[in-house]
Amino acid sequence: MRGGFWVLEGMDGTGKTTQARCLVEYLQAQGRHPLHVREPGTTALGERLRALLLAPEREEWHPKSEALLFFAARQALLSEQIQPALAAGRDVVCERFSPSTLAYQGQQKTLRQWILDLDALVVPASLQPDAVLIFDLEPEQSFQRLGQAEHLDGFEQRGIGFQQQVRAGYLAYAEAYPHNTVVLPVDGKDVEEVATAVRQVVEERRP
Ligand code: TYD
Repeated sequence: MRGGFWVLEGMDGTGKTTQARCLVEYLQAQGRHPLHVREPGTTALGERLRALLLAPEREEWHPKSEALLFFAARQALLSEQIQPALAAGRDVVCERFSPSTLAYQGQQKTLRQWILDLDALVVPASLQPDAVLIFDLEPEQSFQRLGQAEHLDGFEQRGIGFQQQVRAGYLAYAEAYPHNTVVLPVDGKDVEEVATAVRQVVEERRP
């Protein structure tokens, strides 16, 4: 039986990494062997593309070029890690996936369908997530949380207007794929409350 594919999404500073760790621990406590991955990265190609894409000093590229590089990293992650793990019955907990490309590179509305079409080409139906959990927070608040970080990557440096567009992109993804997307407001919630909501979605949607 295929494992569950759980994607955690949201703007920078919404707590994806903390929640991914909580979910991994929860699944391990059930005697499962989840695989925890992040995008872009995890594979050798993905980490090289990550360094290229997130370099704080890099020049601006066309959003289609950026999107293709993120999808190149995604293809490597799918074929090298996600597909084999799911086929072996393991759960996969993935920080960021196609919704990030829609949110970050699909800021011009005309690009959104192009990205959704690309997603359908790269990610076959059998490898679509069982649930995409989008942690939703007002950009003002996520930005405040980020302000405490020592180092901001190139996307985080683009400011609050950019983050507002990112949020709109996530909501567009939720509209395009309503069957597997859950938007979880995280404002004012502590880690345990959000973790409980995540576990509930996982229990309801296990394959
Ligand atoms: P990440 O390590 O996920 O940041 P954080 O831990 O702060 O959430 O950094 C990935 C950055 O890359 C993030 O700013 C969003 C961006 N990104 C895209 O622009 N498009 C994509 O398809 C993906 C996967 C990430």
